[in-house]
Amino acid sequence: MLVICRLDGRLHDREGFDCGEPSLNLYLHTLATQHLRTGIAATHVLADDKAPSCIFGYYSMSAAQMSLDELSVSDRRRLPRYPVPAARLARLAVSVQKQGHGLGEALLQDAVTRCLSLREELGIHALLVDALNERAAGFYRQYGFRNCATSAMTLYLPLGRG
Ligand SMILES: CC(C)(COP(=O)(O)OP(=O)(O)OC[C@H]1O[C@@H](n2cnc3c(N)ncnc32)[C@H](O)[C@@H]1OP(=O)(O)O)[C@@H](O)C(=O)NCCC(=O)NCCS
Repeated sequence: MLVICRLDGRLHDREGFDCGEPSLNLYLHTLATQHLRTGIAATHVLADDKAPSCIFGYYSMSAAQMSLDELSVSDRRRLPRYPVPAARLARLAVSVQKQGHGLGEALLQDAVTRCLSLREELGIHALLVDALNERAAGFYRQYGFRNCATSAMTLYLPLGRG
C-alpha cells in the first residue's frame, strides 16, 4: 500500500531518488532533513509500506504570507489590508519511473488536506506554489491554482471559506 509520511533521514533512501530535475533531486539528497530540523520546511514522502526506504515522490512545505496585490482583485474582497497567512508548497516531485501514474496528484492532494487541517489551528488563507516552468504551472492550474498577479510562475489556491 502506498503511504505518505514525514521524511525520516534514517529510514528513507534520499540518494536513490531521481525525478529528472537536478534542483529537486539535490534538495532531497542534501537539504531536506536539515530544513526539517531547523524549521525551514517540512518534507513528506510517498513510499510503499512494504519497501518503505524507496521514495517514489515528495513535497516540502513552509509557512508563508501573501501581500494583497498578489491576489486577483476578486480574491481580495473581505480581506484585511495587511499580508494574509499562507503555506508554500516549495517543492513537489515524483521519481522518473513513477511519473504519469497519479502520484503527483496524490501528493498535491495530501498537501492541500494538510493545509486545510492546519488552517483550523493557525489560519492559512491560501496555498502558494512556485512552478519550475510553464509545464509545471499547467499541472497546478488543472487543480484550480490561479496565477499570482505579480509573478507568472507563482500560483495560489484559495483555501478560505467564502
Ligand atoms: C510534475 C510532476 C510532479 C507530476 O507528477 P506525476 O505523478 O507525473 O503526475 P500525475 O500522474 O499525478 O498527473 C496528474 C495529472 O497532471 C497531468 N500532468 C502531469 N505532469 C504534468 C505537467 N508537467 N504539466 C501539465 N500537466 C501534467 C497528467 O496528465 C494528469 O492529468 P490527467 O489525469 O488529466 O491525465 C512530475 O512529473 C515531476 O516530478 N516532474 C519533475 C519535477 C517537476 O517538474 N516538478 C514540479 C515542481 S514545480
